[in-house]
Parts: sequence; structure tokens; C-alpha cells
Amino acid sequence: MTLETDYLVIGSGAAGLSFALKAAEHGHVILVTKGEMNECNTNYAQGGICSVTYEPDTFQKHIDDTMVCGGGICDMNAVRLVVTRAPQLMKDLIQWGARFDKTREGKYELNREGGHSEHRILHHKDETGAEIERTLISQVKTHKNIEVLEHHFAVDLLTQHHLGQFVTRHTGGIECYGAYVMDLKKERIMTILSKVTVLATGGVGNVYNVTTNPSVATGDGIAMAHRAKAVIENMEFIQFHPTALYNPGERPSFLITEALRGFGAILKTQDGKEFMQKYHPMGSLAPRDVVARSIDNEMKIRGEDFVYLDVTHCNPHETINHFPNIYHKCLSINIDITKDMIPVAPAAHYCCGGVKVDTNGETTIKRLYALGETSCTGLHGANRLASNSLTEAVVYADQAVRHSTEHLAEYSIQRGIPDWNDDGTTATEEMILITQNTKEMQQIMSNYVGIVRSNLRLERARRRLEIIYKENEELYLKSKLNKELCELRNMIDVGYLIIKHAQAMKRSIGLHYSLDYPLETLVPPTDGQKRRSTEF
Ligand code: FAD
Ligand code: SIN
Repeated sequence: MTLETDYLVIGSGAAGLSFALKAAEHGHVILVTKGEMNECNTNYAQGGICSVTYEPDTFQKHIDDTMVCGGGICDMNAVRLVVTRAPQLMKDLIQWGARFDKTREGKYELNREGGHSEHRILHHKDETGAEIERTLISQVKTHKNIEVLEHHFAVDLLTQHHLGQFVTRHTGGIECYGAYVMDLKKERIMTILSKVTVLATGGVGNVYNVTTNPSVATGDGIAMAHRAKAVIENMEFIQFHPTALYNPGERPSFLITEALRGFGAILKTQDGKEFMQKYHPMGSLAPRDVVARSIDNEMKIRGEDFVYLDVTHCNPHETINHFPNIYHKCLSINIDITKDMIPVAPAAHYCCGGVKVDTNGETTIKRLYALGETSCTGLHGANRLASNSLTEAVVYADQAVRHSTEHLAEYSIQRGIPDWNDDGTTATEEMILITQNTKEMQQIMSNYVGIVRSNLRLERARRRLEIIYKENEELYLKSKLNKELCELRNMIDVGYLIIKHAQAMKRSIGLHYSLDYPLETLVPPTDGQKRRSTEF
């Protein structure tokens, strides 16, 4: 079966939905998503979405905070673009129906999170992502130009390779013609041909064994783009959120937003002592990489599995009013956060790298755009500033609509792509081969390629992953496809990219901390000058 469209959008988070809504003003959109529409990282976002809104905040301060957090290796063009376009994109969200919290005086109430020098985070209680997702889904569902296909899994991108041409990473002029997409309910693979294709498949958290990401975050878009020979960048920079609720057996880990620390919560060891001042002058509100590493260090020194986050000294009514989602979740496991400290530990949270794009969101493959967490715009450098990602997703979606629409008339539907051929394959009966390799891969990545790395650990991880790769490729070639098999294949590709990029990085910076190199940090500007120093 073959479908044709102007824009094929893969993914239904903030990036995919906001692209679809705007592109639909210019042509027909097919949006595919592998689960229900709201199964995505966006739906789980708590803290909020960044934008300079009121004085004394300024664009320059937001730019500086982003750069310092990113270890000084952010792409300045991306940083300027996101920071300066953010206010307009917030207006778009509000106009579509997003309700951000306001003060009694009617001004937007702004949160503050780690690494931010000002309050600049718009939010809806502690459920900002769900509010944005609700807003976008309600708009998309009523747009006559958008056809949504839920439970449809994109397997691979179509390029000249599928016309029988030899394509390598160094081949110039690669173009994308759409994707092979598996209908998970009917168990068949269709060809979707498009003039423009958008990867908005979100993050990679499930490559690790503890993550805040829902199960859909398996790096599919990055893996597909890599196989299609697009350039992938900065994969060594995996962000671990310092404070996921420590509740063994729960996957994904429930997030305790950084906004709680912005509100006054303090990190303490299990004996009730504060420790963050030892590591950073901003204490519990230091940039996320510093906090995650410090917690990891304290847990290792003390042989403990978690630290505490203490908000018991804050006004209980305000705590419940600002953080109802966290309050109720913790209460459900007998922790009353107004009286009890919250056990927390770091968890894989965000991928700062991804498919390399320019300021139009276009990848190194023509007619292929990558947006949101799947992309690497250069905004985050070596470490993402909290709540910059939702902003990046909507700003780049807007850029990509403008650029792809300008070029739409030049593109045509590519004929001659063969249907998916699975002759000679059989259904995978032994699911244990997939589930066991998934667990092994997650263990390898968490133990050797986590918050703290070394040359030895990375090499060991590479060798172990290679064995799993070979086993899975064998299985893939002889099997009828299923979601789990494809996801494992994608996660192995992503794990390989993280290790390869980490091995190539002969320094410790931001989220890539190796015991073999001293950590370089950018000192926040106090006299207008940013300086680099080394620690540990
Ligand atoms: P997603 O929202 O993850 O959407 C990806 C979509 O792609 C999903 O619909 C998925 O089903 C679909 N998909 C994936 N693979 C396939 C495939 N093969 N075929 C078809 N469909 C596919 N950022 C902030 O800025 N502020 C916050 O407060 C914040 N809090 C967070 C809290 C949590 C718990 C988490 C996990 C993340 C948080 N983040 C936050 C990060 C932010 O939520 C994400 O980076 C952002 O939402 C990514 O949006 P996206 O549209 O790129 O991807
Ligand atoms: C949080 O609310 O702490 C998460 C914010 C983010 O990941 O940007």
C-alpha cells in the first residue's frame, strides 16, 4: 500500500504537532506516531518553557545562561535564533489555547530552574508539557489538512538507496522521498511518499536502564537518519536529570522538577546534611550536569542509592498549589512532601545531540528536516539549559515550515520506490532474544557510558555492544518486523553513536565527563568576561 502527501511528519510531540499545524496551511500533512498521540516526552514535561518575558530579564542574559550551561560550545546562531524568536512562539501557543499560570496581578508567573540567572520559565502548574500537548492535539485534530495515523511506526527513510543507487555518507545530494511505515494494528508495512519529510521522534532515554523518558523514546529518528547517511552530532552529551523519584521498579522514573529547587527545595544526603555548596556556588540550583555529577559522587562515596530533596521548610499550601502533580504522585507511595523528604537519584533525561540541522531545521539530507529532541541545532552545546528544549522544538518547527514551504513547489513525489519486501522472513517467536538484549544494552550503557566515563569503560561498552549488534542484525534479517525488534535495532545504533562520539571526545566538558581528562567549565560572567577553568 502506498500513500502520498506534501508533508510527512513522524512524531506527535511539541515539534511534530506544531510543524504539522503550520504546514497544513500550505499543503496536505500525514502525521504518523507509533502510539497514541500524547505518548511522548512533551506530555511529561513539568518545569516549563523558556522565554524572556519581563524585565529585568533580557535576551542577553538568556543567551549568556545558555552559553555558560553549554560549556561555551553552543552554536551562537542557534542560541540567538531561539532566544529572540521565543516570545513570538509563546504567543502562538497561547493563541492556540495554552494556559500558562498567572499571578493575581495578571502577569505570567515565571519559574526559575538550574543555571538560569532570572525567572523566565512559563509553566502550567507542574504539568506544562501536558498542557502544551493538549493544546496542540486539539488544534491538529480539527484541521482538515492533517491526517493522523496513530500506532504507525516509521521503520526507515527512503532515499536514492531505494532506487538502487549506491549512497554513502560522503555522497553529495542525498534526498529523502518519505518513509516505510509499519501499521502496528494491521501488521503491514506501507510506503509513504512525501515531498518533505520531518523527523520529530523525540529522545533516546530508553537506551539507559533508568530514565525519565516514556517507553516511546528509543532514538528511532536518529537511528533512521544515521542509516540514511545523514550527519549526526554531539551524541556524547546525554543529560541526566539529577532528581528523578527513587522508586525501584518504576519505569519510567517519575521526575521531580528542577522548579521545586527553584521554589526552595534543598538537596541533602541521607543523614540530612546539605552538600551542594561543596560543589558549586549556586548550590542546589547549579547547572544540571554539576548537580547530577555531585549527587552521583555523594551516592558513590556513601554507598547509597539515593539522596533527599527537602521542601518541608516551604509553605505547605504553596507547595501543593504549585506542584500538585508531584504532591499527589509522592502521596501515592506514602511520601507527603510537605512533611517528608523525597528520595531522588539521577536518571537519563535528554539527548543534546542528534541529527545535525541548519537554522532552517534542514538536515544534511535534502527534503529531510529534524526537529525537537531528535535534532542537533547546536543550541545546547555540551549541556542543555533547563526548559530550553520545548522552546527549541517550537522555534525550529516554525523555521522549518517557512523553509520547506518556500521550496515545496520544487519537489515532486518520487516514483519507482519498491514496496517493502519481507519474502523469506518469519515471525519472531522468541521474544526473549529481544527483551534480554534490550536489558543487556541498557545495563552496558548505564554502567559504562553514564554520568562518569573513562576510556576503559567506553572501549568495554563498545565491544559488548558490538556482540549485541551482530546478534540483533541476524535476527532482523530473518524476521518479519515487529516494533520491539525495530526499537532495539534503533537503540543499538544510538548506543553505538553515543560511544563513538564519546570516544572521539578527548576532553571532559559539560555532560561528557571522563576520568581521563580534567573537566573544563565556563565561569559565569561577573565582569562581562567568560573564562574557562578546569576542575577535579
Ligand atoms: P516528543 O515529545 O518525545 O515526541 C516524539 C514523538 O515521536 C512521540 O509521539 C513518539 O511516539 C513518536 N515516535 C518516536 N519514534 C517513532 C517512530 N519510529 N515512528 C512513529 N512515531 C515515532 N523540556 C523543557 O523544555 N521543559 C521541561 O519542563 C521539560 N520537562 C521534561 C520532563 C520529562 C519527564 C521529560 C522526559 C522531558 C522533559 N523535557 C522538558 C524535555 C522535553 O519534554 C522534550 O525534549 C521535548 O518534549 C521533545 O519534544 P519532541 O516533539 O521533540 O519529542
Ligand atoms: C524539569 O522540570 O526539571 C525538567 C526541565 C527540563 O528538562 O528542561
